[in-house]
Amino acid sequence: MHAAVPAPMRFRSAGPLRGTVTVPGDKSISHRSLMLSALAVGTSRIEGLLEGEDVLATAAAMRAMGAMIERSADGIWTVDGVGVGGLLQPATALDMGNSGTSTRLLMGLIASHPITATFIGDASLSKRPMGRVTEPLSLMGAEITASPGGRLPLMLRGICPAVPIEYRLPVASAQVKSAVLLAALNTPGITRVIEPVRTRDHSERMLAGFGAALTVEEIADGARLISLHGEAELKPQQIVVPGDPSSAAFIVVAALLVPGSDVTVANVGLNPTRAALFDVLRLMGGDIAYENAREVGGEPVADLRVRHSALANIAVPPDLAPSMIDEFPILFVAQALASGTGTTTGLEELRVKESDRLATMAEGLRAIGVSVEEREDGLVVTGTGGDPLPGGTTIAAKLDHRIAMSFAVAGLVSRGAVVIDDMAPVATSFPVFTDLMTGLGAEAIAG
Ligand code: S3P
Repeated sequence: MHAAVPAPMRFRSAGPLRGTVTVPGDKSISHRSLMLSALAVGTSRIEGLLEGEDVLATAAAMRAMGAMIERSADGIWTVDGVGVGGLLQPATALDMGNSGTSTRLLMGLIASHPITATFIGDASLSKRPMGRVTEPLSLMGAEITASPGGRLPLMLRGICPAVPIEYRLPVASAQVKSAVLLAALNTPGITRVIEPVRTRDHSERMLAGFGAALTVEEIADGARLISLHGEAELKPQQIVVPGDPSSAAFIVVAALLVPGSDVTVANVGLNPTRAALFDVLRLMGGDIAYENAREVGGEPVADLRVRHSALANIAVPPDLAPSMIDEFPILFVAQALASGTGTTTGLEELRVKESDRLATMAEGLRAIGVSVEEREDGLVVTGTGGDPLPGGTTIAAKLDHRIAMSFAVAGLVSRGAVVIDDMAPVATSFPVFTDLMTGLGAEAIAG
């Protein structure tokens, strides 16, 4: 977990960004590869795993429940699984740190095992709602005692056999969908999840890849019905994790905004349920070329060549929200430098991320001189048309890695330096962020 001592860092403009960087492994896929490998019978091998704190929290939890997980000197991870149904009682509380994905997906896994686990997390995670997961898992038979408001710390008593359910997702959440599907793995019969709005589909892809009997059908109104036959036997896999588009997003926006920049971001996962930010930036006039398009680990991947561009604001279609849900903080920074007024709607979910990302971004943008209106479900940002922002202040990142990185990028296009009060949370998802940015020519000074 990241250090309790805050790590302030000052970012300021220092000329064009140039060069090529390779973005680290996808966080969502990394979590899922550890979890499913830990449930397979035999040894899986994972290449390109994101070695960020969130993923390491998942690895520690899977170890605590019996999986053998090792990293070799060349960065390859091997996992000896316990088999579906084979998870062991952890001896101590599972510390999830800052990671909502670890918490919600592991709650699903444990719900159908005859074990009891206590989940704890940091101050940010302890404010986030878990009721969205405890509701379906209770219907499957798990017993959950949560802190007031359905929050962490919570204790979950799994049950075996659990009861298969048909569950219609009340919120567009890949984490809730995945929690139910993972619980279904050790549940007899067929568990069905109905997803009215499409969310990231890494769980479905990977479950099928590990040999689970899973079908996905389009039903009425564009909804998807995902059916999983339980008591599955998962076969070990060789996994290659593609680069994380949610990390690439910060470099892509920085290159678009900093005059004279020409940057290639290699190894970017472009799963259509994840990559909408790049479509939106292109609609705004961003020069982003997809080069060397290929498949990595069953996911589309390309290298993105990004050149500085004059951006024009648009009304971002709300139906794109789930496929760029983590990218709104950095999109708001792009909007602040574009011409005209950019609007976003349908973003209520941003209020329950690592921080309330609508409030935190509105407050921070205002502090660095951006004209912004906060609405219940989105922001209205009036851009400068490319002129630098005033900057010259300190931003409270509120234990939210994506807020910290977004304002770091804003610092590169501000007249006065932008100080991030604490960059430590960046280690949850993108530990090499500052190194990659300074390697491209950005100026970042600790303290
Ligand atoms: C994730 C799903 C998203 C996303 C999070 C990772 C996942 O959350 O914000 O960073 O790996 O399933 P929701 O599904 O709750 O929107």
